[in-house]
Amino acid sequence: MQDALYGPGGFYVASGAPARNFRTAAHASPLWAEAIAELCDRVDTALGCPDDFTVVDLGAGGGELIAGLARLAPERWQLVGVDLAARPDSVDDRVTWAARLPDGFTGVLLAVEWLDVVPVDVVERTGDGLRLVEVDDAGAERLAGQPPPDDGRWLDAWWPVAEPGDRAEIGSTRDDAWQAAVGRMDRGVAVAVDYAAVPARDVAGTLAGFRDGRQVPPVPDGSCDLTAHVLFDSCAAAVTDVECRRLNQRDALAALGVSAARPAYDGEPLAYLHALSRTGAAAELKDRGGLGAFEWLLHARGVAPPL
Ligand SMILES: C[S@@+](CC[C@H](N)C(=O)[O-])C[C@H]1O[C@@H](n2cnc3c(N)ncnc32)[C@H](O)[C@@H]1O
Repeated sequence: MQDALYGPGGFYVASGAPARNFRTAAHASPLWAEAIAELCDRVDTALGCPDDFTVVDLGAGGGELIAGLARLAPERWQLVGVDLAARPDSVDDRVTWAARLPDGFTGVLLAVEWLDVVPVDVVERTGDGLRLVEVDDAGAERLAGQPPPDDGRWLDAWWPVAEPGDRAEIGSTRDDAWQAAVGRMDRGVAVAVDYAAVPARDVAGTLAGFRDGRQVPPVPDGSCDLTAHVLFDSCAAAVTDVECRRLNQRDALAALGVSAARPAYDGEPLAYLHALSRTGAAAELKDRGGLGAFEWLLHARGVAPPL
């Protein structure tokens, strides 16, 4: 998964990969950047509007969110897009682009659909215990050895695999990645937004491939995205020294003032059409069967959680 996504010729090393192959909240609507700007504004105010207030978008992809924030944010805010992919041409000059997180910063750390592409191993329960699943470039699978003891303990704690044939993804890589990312933030709020794994539901695992807007077999040949839902319980527990909040995207967006309620017609057709279009965009972000199914995990350090 690591090589197929981030190695030479990897899926994400090609520029423009996210927007070309799947639709995220940042592609769906400008309301997304507006809602995130509102969140950042609350954190900025709570921190006392520090001179070095910084918004870091980890896994910034095509830069749509950070570019949207560049249009909305006060000049004082520093904006940083972090991605292994090259800086997109469309990103405003005021945005710094980097392949790694800054060493320390005060502000907001955003990680939208980042944890789901942090590589994981897959295990399957057999009559002979848990076995790692190996897959070749053509998608052919075979069962390999047992997972290392640490991973076995992680599975026992967070994603027990009960029946022969059941599968799970070992999320300890995400726990470590999230803990390290939040550790870079001196003061402020870190937010991870992603599809959540539910072990009792996801007994076949969640690993999936996406290419050109379609779901495809998850073959690690560099031609498609490889993604697996995030086990938020373990990620939340991995960060111990800060306050934590969990909520679903519908509640998070409602708290940030995003409404999908039908607007009232006040005799101005153009204004009404505009309001209707915003309602449609809000409805897509809150759709229970789509982006609205996302989970938000917040960690607040040195400041009250904004939601
Ligand atoms: C699924 S895309 C999401 C893009 C964007 N956040 C959005 O919502 O449209 C995930 C992005 O995370 C980036 N990424 C994955 N691991 C990374 C890492 N360790 N450091 C920086 N970027 C990473 C990938 O290159 C990819 O652009």
